[in-house]
Amino acid sequence: MPRSAVDPAEVGPAEVGGAAVDPAAVGAAEVDTVTEVPVAVVGAGPAGLMLAHLLGRAGVDAVAVDLRSRAEIESTHRAGILEADAARDLVETGVSDRILREGHEHEGTELRFGGRAHRIDFRALVGASVWLYPQTEVFTDLADARARDGGTVHFGVSDPEVLDADTDRPRVRFTAADGTRHELRARYVVGADGSRGMCRGLVPEELRVRHGTEYPFAWFGVMAQAPASAPELVYAHSEHGFALISRRTETVQRMYFQCDPDEDTAAWPDERIWATLQARVAGGDGFRLVEGPILERTVLRFRSFVQEPMRWGSLLLAGDAAHTVPPTGARGLNLALHDVKVLAGVLLRALGREGEPALADYQPLALRRIWRAQHFSSWMTRLLHTAPGASPFELRRQLGELDSVVGTRAGRAYLAEQYTGWPSSR
Ligand code: PHB
Repeated sequence: MPRSAVDPAEVGPAEVGGAAVDPAAVGAAEVDTVTEVPVAVVGAGPAGLMLAHLLGRAGVDAVAVDLRSRAEIESTHRAGILEADAARDLVETGVSDRILREGHEHEGTELRFGGRAHRIDFRALVGASVWLYPQTEVFTDLADARARDGGTVHFGVSDPEVLDADTDRPRVRFTAADGTRHELRARYVVGADGSRGMCRGLVPEELRVRHGTEYPFAWFGVMAQAPASAPELVYAHSEHGFALISRRTETVQRMYFQCDPDEDTAAWPDERIWATLQARVAGGDGFRLVEGPILERTVLRFRSFVQEPMRWGSLLLAGDAAHTVPPTGARGLNLALHDVKVLAGVLLRALGREGEPALADYQPLALRRIWRAQHFSSWMTRLLHTAPGASPFELRRQLGELDSVVGTRAGRAYLAEQYTGWPSSR
């Protein structure tokens, strides 16, 4: 759903965002432009663009680059749930208020197990809600806001390189989509280039600490052309495995079911997908999904991962570049947006009177929420998925755990509080 009137890739660094310098005069004859900019951001997904937006609001230029084209990012489906705080930040920081018109506020969710539905009422339990607003829409809003505000974003670059990250004059070099070569001379470089990006690997091996765990299953994600089957999201546990019923629009629904990480989408005609999904949500209440043509099918692998340190010299990592969570509970985007909120504050202090010592606050402030989200995502994943070869004991233990979650106010409130997020001050 691209809505941009201006292609940000057409807005060059010489015109906006940083000060253009004559390459020959600064000993960089091999590039076409050299731009001095306080912050260079590698990665122009939601984390990178939100950071550039927050800095821009405070009068600090940030130039972002991304290997992917804008169209490519806009057509990559990701999760769809935003915490109310993140939704409010989009509106209140002036990105866009489209979420209020086109998003859907959800005041609860449904857990299905043992063939029955159990509603978790976020509003009644913890006075909170979440917004169903796909990540691609968040990205579109941010890319439009950057274009509107004159921020420079280079989509579709190649050969990006970060140089001198261990000094106080780090540089980012890249080839723009039109084949011209550019250098950004920054005070800080932010790596917001996701879990497969290059930035996390710039931290020297002897300093890198990697924490993580793998799961013996993946998600089979589909887009189905059909009306909604339920008013809220449905997270289903069954002896056949997990399923999640989410939505995109009135006529397009997003659904997932647990599968083998090596599953081949070609082996899944529409009938097989529907039979699998129906079996996983079936129950004594007669609940059934409304079926329709499957528009897209993808296998999504996932894991839990955190890399420390999140800062090395003048390089700071944010979002998936530093950590990833399984998709159960939709924490990933929310966590990335929290990282950059903290990081924007810290960078503004570091670029201002306080200087570099301010950066020391970033990792501890970000990590606290990261580990809470790691715990919650991993807990919710294990609570709802069926490990291959799980024993009858394990299945019954899981049902006991689910029953303790929905059967006590404390259990329901715990889930509601974690799912809707935590205020950044906590
Ligand atoms: C989605 O709508 O894509 C979605 C929703 C909730 C999740 C994960 C994904 O936990």
